[in-house]
Amino acid sequence: MTEKDDHPTCPERPYDVVLFGATGFAGGLTADYLVEHLPESGRMALAGRNRDKLEAVRDRLTGINPDVSDIGLLHADSTDPASLTEVARSAKVVITTVGPYLEYGAALVAACAEEGTDYVDLTGEPEFVDRMFLGNDATAQKTGARLVHACGFDSIPHDLGALYTARNLPANAPMEIRGVVRTNASLSGGTLHSALKQLSRLRPMWQAASQRRRAESTSAGRRARLTVGFPRRDRVTGTWLIPLPTIDGQIVTRSALTAPSADDYGPDFSYSHNAGAKKLRTVPASLVGFVVGIAAVQIAPVRRAIARRIAAGEGPSQERRDRTWFTVEFVGTAAGRTVHTRVRGGDPGYTETAKMLAESALSLAFDDNPALAGQLTTATAMGGNLIDRLTAAGMSFEVLSHTP
Ligand SMILES: NC(=O)c1ccc[n+]([C@@H]2O[C@H](COP(=O)([O-])OP(=O)(O)OC[C@H]3O[C@@H](n4cnc5c(N)ncnc54)[C@H](OP(=O)(O)O)[C@@H]3O)[C@@H](O)[C@H]2O)c1
Repeated sequence: MTEKDDHPTCPERPYDVVLFGATGFAGGLTADYLVEHLPESGRMALAGRNRDKLEAVRDRLTGINPDVSDIGLLHADSTDPASLTEVARSAKVVITTVGPYLEYGAALVAACAEEGTDYVDLTGEPEFVDRMFLGNDATAQKTGARLVHACGFDSIPHDLGALYTARNLPANAPMEIRGVVRTNASLSGGTLHSALKQLSRLRPMWQAASQRRRAESTSAGRRARLTVGFPRRDRVTGTWLIPLPTIDGQIVTRSALTAPSADDYGPDFSYSHNAGAKKLRTVPASLVGFVVGIAAVQIAPVRRAIARRIAAGEGPSQERRDRTWFTVEFVGTAAGRTVHTRVRGGDPGYTETAKMLAESALSLAFDDNPALAGQLTTATAMGGNLIDRLTAAGMSFEVLSHTP
């Protein structure tokens, strides 16, 4: 990560925002959100491989907001790098929901890094983020591109929630935060296929993480650690904690390690990421289910059978999503003070994810953010501006209690 020389405005680019993947489930919801929230002067395009499908999406969007009938359509296929370069050249910010990212994502990140174009995605695949760091961070630092992965439920509520919690604790002191997630959400085809892809590649994932650790320089005199505890009762949140090995903990600690100053997270930061269960009996069931699940997806025919349960392009109905919610509670301590905070919203996987992804792109395109470039996190790239946007859009960030 380096400081950018100038503010990332690219007046010569035809579009402020280009969305790649609008014909899919998460991409369609993101397109709906964008046409209702793009500033009046904002210019937007959809990119994809199938012109007929793109035109159908544009017709639907014009029905939602007739003022956006001039949405551009760009041909782009993730197997055709030249088409991705054209997309990157045409936009200030590229949004992509074309996943699994390990399968389809790398060439677009490289094109955005080369062309100095800001980039946001929905990946929750740790190996993809580490490989993109190794392949593109140095180029992006030179061109000024901000490459921000994991701009959905993975990992915005956790990354920005940890930042919000840290900002409610004494500055510049050693700090410990635990995050506790609860939700009743279900999956789309794209998410299921992405999770299966990553879980079937544990060894390459660990290799990429270790290559990254060797290559990455970190801020001198600063420590940030991801800790894993045993399941236990948490008196503050009133839940049983089950360690959750998702990408979120890595993103939070990366934010702490690479934040421009030690003011927010302090010189010695540790974070643990957990699911919160109300009932004790959920704990052994979850741990056994996790171990059996990981073992099962290493077997290709089992993986294929699971993948067939939800087809690509399918996801939970509007009715199901309206009944879905999430909370992430944080308990932070520093210099003898404890703070208990909560981030809360509706359907995390799709309704809120589309909002988070679109607001991240709009923040990069239109807000006055820190002048940084390279691979960034949502907290380091947009921080408070994105918290303000999401709060205005109906998600809540709140302090529940302080001691003393
Ligand atoms: N982290 C989170 O919180 C979160 C939440 C939701 C989703 N996600 C991730 O978002 C991604 C998308 O999920 P989804 O449910 O929206 O998937 P989906 O419905 O299957 O959509 C996939 C999209 O990718 C496009 N695509 C596939 N191959 C392509 C290619 N070669 N070139 C160009 N476009 C191609 C499809 O276009 P066609 O219509 O032309 O086939 C479609 O628009 C997944 O990786 C998922 O894990 C993450």
